[in-house]
Amino acid sequence: MNFETIDTTVKALWRFDYDTNIKPLRDLYEVAKKEQWNAATDIPWEMKTDPAEVGDMTSSGGEPFDFVKALPKEKQIELAQRKSAHLLSNFLHGEQGAMMICGQLVEVVPDMDGKLYASTQVIDEARHVEVFNRYIKRLDHVYPILPGLKALLNAVLQADLWQMKCVGMQIIAESIAMGSFKTMMKITNDEVFRRVVELTSQDEARHVSYGLIYMKDEIPKMNEPDRNRLEDFAWTAMTLLATTPQLREDGQGDPMDEVYKDLGIDPKKVESEMISRFSDPEFVKAQPNPFRDYAYPQLQRVGLITDRTQAKYEQAGLVS
Ligand SMILES: [Fe+2]
Ligand SMILES: [Fe+2]
Repeated sequence: MNFETIDTTVKALWRFDYDTNIKPLRDLYEVAKKEQWNAATDIPWEMKTDPAEVGDMTSSGGEPFDFVKALPKEKQIELAQRKSAHLLSNFLHGEQGAMMICGQLVEVVPDMDGKLYASTQVIDEARHVEVFNRYIKRLDHVYPILPGLKALLNAVLQADLWQMKCVGMQIIAESIAMGSFKTMMKITNDEVFRRVVELTSQDEARHVSYGLIYMKDEIPKMNEPDRNRLEDFAWTAMTLLATTPQLREDGQGDPMDEVYKDLGIDPKKVESEMISRFSDPEFVKAQPNPFRDYAYPQLQRVGLITDRTQAKYEQAGLVS
């Protein structure tokens, strides 16, 4: 058995007026019902995955690193496959987090249309758990969750304001997922995975819409202390994944180190090449950054980037 628990608090809210009160959310609920798909039958699982077509989904598709170029072709393919499995494992854990957070949203959001819609997202995220788990097994095994991702999901699960859950999940985490899917689609030529991403992104786009529609309306109605707390929560959520050291919790270092070692690559060489590439601001700018490119503009749209917080985003290079 492999599990852990955290304590969360949600204030469940009953509504006794069942008619539509937020029409765009009711419309989104209708779309969600129509766009349901079946992870077991709508993905061409009968097709084989050619390892050479998977690609390194963690890369931006630019010039490969020297330590990669030094490997024979078949080891390059294996490395790409295992790095992709590591990335997708974190998507898988993220999907489980999303499923649990949406379960909370059904309880905590104050509007019937908000509850109805959130209930459809629970099954969407269940489907995503199912597809990612199934696909990863074609590549490698499921890797442990990155501490930064776990910190982000736990912060949302434990947030006390429902608006924090909505912003943390629907706006920040969902936008990051959308951005990462776009990059993966540029990299991979595996038809099975392309279908997984096509169907999953269709759902995630709806999830972002929910956050935007709901929060655009809600944030201006909040009192100042709560709005300030929400702005600060958004900032913290945006930085948790990027600033928490991504080392394994058991003190065994970078989870990718064992993959490098298996393939005869010295992890220290990888680290020093990474440090030198990422110390070049032009290289960093050219890398896709879903926080900067996707989440930040959405936070701006709902009015969460303000005079209080903007400078912090600028300093962190998160302004698109
Ligand atoms: Fe999802
Ligand atoms: Fe989602």
